[in-house]
Amino acid sequence: MEDDQQPTRNPTHAGDEDEVDPWHVKASGESGIDYGRLIKNFGCEPISAELIERVERITRQPAHPWLKRGLFFSHRDLDKVLDLYEAGTPFYLYTGRGPSSESLHLGHLIPFMFTLYLQQAFKVPLVIQLTDDEKFVFKNGLSLEKTARLAKKNAKDIIAVGFDPERTFIFQDTEYIRELYPNVCRIQKLVTANQAIGIFGFDGSSNLGQYAYPAIQAAPSFSTSFKCVFGDGPEAANAPCLIPCAIDQDPFFRMTRDCAPRMGLRKPAVIHSKFLDSLQGPKTKMNASDANSSIYLTDTLAQIKTKINKYAFSGGGETRAEQEAHGANLEVDVPYQYLRLFLFDDARVEEIGREYGAGRMMTGQVKAELISVLTELITAHQERRAKVTDETVAAFMAIRHIPLDVKENLD
Ligand code: TRP
Repeated sequence: MEDDQQPTRNPTHAGDEDEVDPWHVKASGESGIDYGRLIKNFGCEPISAELIERVERITRQPAHPWLKRGLFFSHRDLDKVLDLYEAGTPFYLYTGRGPSSESLHLGHLIPFMFTLYLQQAFKVPLVIQLTDDEKFVFKNGLSLEKTARLAKKNAKDIIAVGFDPERTFIFQDTEYIRELYPNVCRIQKLVTANQAIGIFGFDGSSNLGQYAYPAIQAAPSFSTSFKCVFGDGPEAANAPCLIPCAIDQDPFFRMTRDCAPRMGLRKPAVIHSKFLDSLQGPKTKMNASDANSSIYLTDTLAQIKTKINKYAFSGGGETRAEQEAHGANLEVDVPYQYLRLFLFDDARVEEIGREYGAGRMMTGQVKAELISVLTELITAHQERRAKVTDETVAAFMAIRHIPLDVKENLD
């Protein structure tokens, strides 16, 4: 995006590789990001079938379809967080959002919907960072007043995902900085400019706010950044932290994990998602500046229908005869891939894949099914969103005590 004031390119990026860092997501080939290669390059771990089974055993419920279907595909130390949890040391969840646009799209919703599942399955507290400072220092043309206003507005969409008001603390950097600042200072002292250049691709023309920012995203990974929320009892001195995020955020947490032992603190664990393909297909992720590349939570039902019918890339045959003869290429078919993510009925997804892949179902039918699934999802979101008031936002953002424990359901 030309109005962005951000690192041009990560210097560690080689020409034939996918580009994935907090500011760029671009596949080198037609088939999209090579996530297996990313795991290797980043040094994370794939999420194994055994690990998923372990999550199911501990939470005594089926794992989220996004774990089973590989949308959340990679992690750092998730196993360790589970060990501690089972041994009676609960973790807290930490995720965030950079408020750069008025409304969120489906891709933005993924980490939050997954975080909701984790909060409900493990019954643990959650903190959500709104980085009005980040978007101000990295984007041209956005005033701090504007990013601060967008933070409050985006908070409404985040709250509408369904987080537990008793167990969720939302904070905005420019307001909460006083509590974060001691850990921010400790982290800043541990990372040299050269390291930041290596990790984030900063250079001599990057502004000081950009150099300073990574420590601000790192600080909430440490429970001592929330003394006013978690208290200062022994359980809050060094509580495990689990961060659900899209894989492009990993550089921040690699840096954080490198600092942790030198601060005498635990490394945060991370669980990574893939990106949601744009409606145009797997080459890029949804782009907030192209309205037809994504479905927004504010889209009307008519818009959703038009976008899918008109813009969703199809892997089906050009004509009915061709589709019947050869079937669809499911790998690149956007309607099918979206159904794999948003239709949670395993048997139906399997059936559509089989029938559509074999040419017994037409693209139009698959699109119609996707339209109905997304209409339901977005309508439900919009209904919850309509009930979120400024007072609701204030309540989620109020500094108040949230115990660092596992809250068993009352039922
Ligand atoms: N940098 C993220 C963004 O631009 C926002 C963010 C802050 C975040 N802290 C986080 C995302 C922790 C995931 C996890 O949207």
